[in-house]
Amino acid sequence: MGFWRPAVATWFLMVWWFLSIAVSDPLPPCEFPAIYNFGDSNSDTGGISAAFEPISAPYGEGFFHKPAGRDSDGRLIIDFIAERLKLPYLSAYLNSIGTNYRHGANFATGGSTIRRQNETIFEYGISPFALDMQIKQFDQFKARTADLYNQVRSTPEAEKLPRAEEFSKALYTFDIGQNDLSVGFRKMSFDQLRAAMPDIINQLASAVKHLHEQGGRAFWIHNTGPIGCLPVNLFYVSNPAPGYLDEHGCVKAQNEMAVEFNGKLKERVIKLRAELPEAAITYVDVYSAKQGLISNAKNLGFADPLKVCCGYHVNFDHIWCGNKGKVNNTVVYGASCKDPSVFISWDGVHYSQAANQWVADHTQNGSLTDPAIPLIQACRKK
Ligand SMILES: *[C@@H]1O[C@H](CO)[C@@H](O)[C@H](O)[C@H]1NC(C)=O
Ligand SMILES: *[C@@H]1O[C@H](CO)[C@@H](O)[C@H](O)[C@H]1NC(C)=O
Ligand SMILES: *[C@@H]1O[C@H](CO)[C@@H](O)[C@H](O)[C@H]1NC(C)=O
Repeated sequence: MGFWRPAVATWFLMVWWFLSIAVSDPLPPCEFPAIYNFGDSNSDTGGISAAFEPISAPYGEGFFHKPAGRDSDGRLIIDFIAERLKLPYLSAYLNSIGTNYRHGANFATGGSTIRRQNETIFEYGISPFALDMQIKQFDQFKARTADLYNQVRSTPEAEKLPRAEEFSKALYTFDIGQNDLSVGFRKMSFDQLRAAMPDIINQLASAVKHLHEQGGRAFWIHNTGPIGCLPVNLFYVSNPAPGYLDEHGCVKAQNEMAVEFNGKLKERVIKLRAELPEAAITYVDVYSAKQGLISNAKNLGFADPLKVCCGYHVNFDHIWCGNKGKVNNTVVYGASCKDPSVFISWDGVHYSQAANQWVADHTQNGSLTDPAIPLIQACRKK
């Protein structure tokens, strides 16, 4: 009897193992040990807050119960990516307090562009940490953490540092380009912006190539969203000319530019795959997910997508979310709505956690990616 029990247990284990292979996905998940993210406010988890002034309440109240360096009431798409990969939320590279880089780092900052901007533009909320700067910060991060790890390897401090051998197994994510469009809308004609697009997109491709030289092999690249659907577009427009807005109330020409940008980005990604045959590069159609949510908001249980949860925007008086100001000589707060979970837009520029969750759910399973690969298998080429 003594040896019989282990034998039965082994038999059951083997049956279970064969069955689980037969019924599960043909390919196992990639088991990414880390995420390195590059982007703007759509994926900033504390960079701009640490570098300049912290983002104030009521930002973060819906999940973190305090401001958490994110431009939303709660989690961003990058947080849902971390959750899906069973990794902790990413610490911002620029943050010096309470950070943990064992499973990656976030170089995104609110207001970042792909192309470096002239300094006079910073006053529009454009970040000085353009993509090329984020890539330099990554290089510095990689070199200095390797150095530090060697000094502290047998101490608890090492537990907060990345492992050198894991950079090549990490997932590299991008969500950037929206601010290159918004700056373009302010500073250029549509034709000039269109002419600048190949250069903008080439700079993103250069960033991918650089990370590839540094050992990166898996890339998950978000395209840019329907920028014309951000409610901020309507804050300063009283009587839009016929045809200015589409049937959903979005600025048509701005969305058309985003679609054009995305078309060029997708072409460049396809070219990149030929240039970097060892890399798995996934193009993620965030535009279609956001557009799908906005155009079907009511059926999906969301409020009017052009309404803003947080902030006071009435009769051309604008008190932004978290701010305080005077309207008709009375103090008005840019406060949060009662139920942020039914709003798509949190503050007129940034999405609510509920919207981010919806977009994450519709982009992680491979139904809106090229190639059609779910996030958990983004280390594979198809
Ligand atoms: C910055 O300014 C210079 C000189 O005015 C101009 O040539 C250049 O195109 C500008 N760069 C950007 C990214 O706008
Ligand atoms: C300010 O005055 C306008 C016009 O009378 C009114 O519509 C608006 O509700 C007032 N706003 C506040 C915050 O009192
Ligand atoms: C992906 O998830 C969305 C939302 O749950 C669903 O509508 C869609 O059919 C799924 N696609 C695939 C390929 O699993």
